[in-house]
Amino acid sequence: MRMIVRGARLHTGEGRLAPGPVDVEVAEDGRVARVVPYDDQKEPPATGTLIEAHGDLISAPFVEPHIHLDTALTAGEPRPNASGTLWEGIACWSERKQSLTREDVIARATEVLRWQAAQGVLYVRTHCDVTDDRLVALDALAEVRDRVREVMTLQIVAFPQEGILSFPGGGKLMSEAVARGADVVGAIPHFEDTREDGVASLHLAFELAERHGLRVDAHCDEIDDEQSRFVEVLATLALRSGLGGRATASHTTAMGSYNGAYSYKLQRLLRRSGINLVCNPFANLNLQGRFDGYPRRRGLTQVKEMLAAGVNVAFGHDDVMDPWNALGTGNPLQTALMGLYAAQLTGADEIPTAFSMVTDRAARVLGLEEYGITEGAPASFVLLPAPSPAEALRRQVRPRHVVSRGHLLATTPPAATHLTWPDEPPREVTFTHP
Ligand code: FE2
Repeated sequence: MRMIVRGARLHTGEGRLAPGPVDVEVAEDGRVARVVPYDDQKEPPATGTLIEAHGDLISAPFVEPHIHLDTALTAGEPRPNASGTLWEGIACWSERKQSLTREDVIARATEVLRWQAAQGVLYVRTHCDVTDDRLVALDALAEVRDRVREVMTLQIVAFPQEGILSFPGGGKLMSEAVARGADVVGAIPHFEDTREDGVASLHLAFELAERHGLRVDAHCDEIDDEQSRFVEVLATLALRSGLGGRATASHTTAMGSYNGAYSYKLQRLLRRSGINLVCNPFANLNLQGRFDGYPRRRGLTQVKEMLAAGVNVAFGHDDVMDPWNALGTGNPLQTALMGLYAAQLTGADEIPTAFSMVTDRAARVLGLEEYGITEGAPASFVLLPAPSPAEALRRQVRPRHVVSRGHLLATTPPAATHLTWPDEPPREVTFTHP
C-alpha cells in the first residue's frame, strides 16, 4: 500500500456525502485500491503514508472548466482597462498580444497552474486566443500541457477572441490550431459582425469539431443584449449533430436579460440538447451591466433556472489578473462562493450544489473519464479541513493535502488564528459552531 487516508467524509458528487466515514487505500500503482468504511478499532497499515483525516472532507479534485491561461497575469499591460467593459478588455489584449513570446506565455500559464494545483485544481480547460497569425500562445500552451501531464490534465480550446469570420483568416487559423493540437473548438458568435456571421461561425465550429472528433466550447452570448440568442443555435447544432454533452456554451450572460416566455422555451431545448453551461461569476459580475444605468443587471446566465430544468451548469474562474479581471488566484472555492451568491443558490440544499459545480459538474463539462474516488480510478483527490461541502465553502478552506495519481502534490497546514479577548485566556478561533 502506498498511502491510506483514514476516517474521511467522502464527497460522492452533487455535494452529497457517503453515509459514514471511510478509509481510502492507494495502491503502489497510484490508483485507488479500496474505499472501505472506517473502523477506529483497526490498526493502520505498517507501511505507506498514513493520513489521519479526523472526519475531514475527501473529494475528487477541483475542476476548472473555464480559464484563460494565455492572458493571465497581464493586467495593466500595456494599459489598464479603464472602462471595465469586455470590449475594452479585448482591445487591451489585442495590443498586448503583439508582444507575446513563447517564454512569456509558458511562464505565466505555468505560474497560474501552480496556484491551481496548490489549491487542488488538477483538471483545467483553458481557452487560448488563436486570432494571432503566429499562434504563439497555442504552441506555448501545448508545450505546457505536455510538461504538466504527469500531475494535471490540461485541455486547450481554440478560442477565436476576435472572431472567426470577422478576423482576417479566422477560419484558417481555427483549422491550423486544431492541426497543432487544440483539444476543443471554440467560437465567439456574439462578437462576429452580423447575426448571420455569428450563426455561420457556430456551423464552422461544429463542422471542425465533428471532422476531428473534438468537443465544442463557445463563448456564447457574453453581452447584455437580450436579442443575442446564439445559445439556441449552439444547442440545436449539438442536438442534431449528436455532439450533445460534448458541447458547452460558456458565459451566456444575455440569458440574464431574456424574457420569461423565451426562457421557458429555451430550457426545454437546452435540456433536450444535453449541452453544458459554464457561468463565470467573477468576469461577468465585473464586465456586464456597464452600459446600464439603474436598475443595473447582474449579467449572469440563468443558473438556478437551468439547474432546475435539468441542464448541467458549472462555475468557472475565467480570468486571473488580466484585462477582464485584475484580481484572482484561481481558487475554485472562491469562484463557487461568488457564484452561489450571484446566482442566489443560498438555500440549504443549494449550497452543496455550488461545490459540485467546481467538482463533478465541471468534470462533466470536460468529459473526464475516471473522475471520482472509486476503486481502480487514479488516486487523485483533495482533503479539505471541513466536514462538508457547505462548510468548505463557508470557511473558504484550502486543501490540507492535494494528491495526484497517488503522489502528494501540495500540503497546506490549516490556518490558526489566536485571539486575546478581554477577561479570557488567549484562545484559537476556528470559525466553527456546533
Ligand atoms: Fe472566457
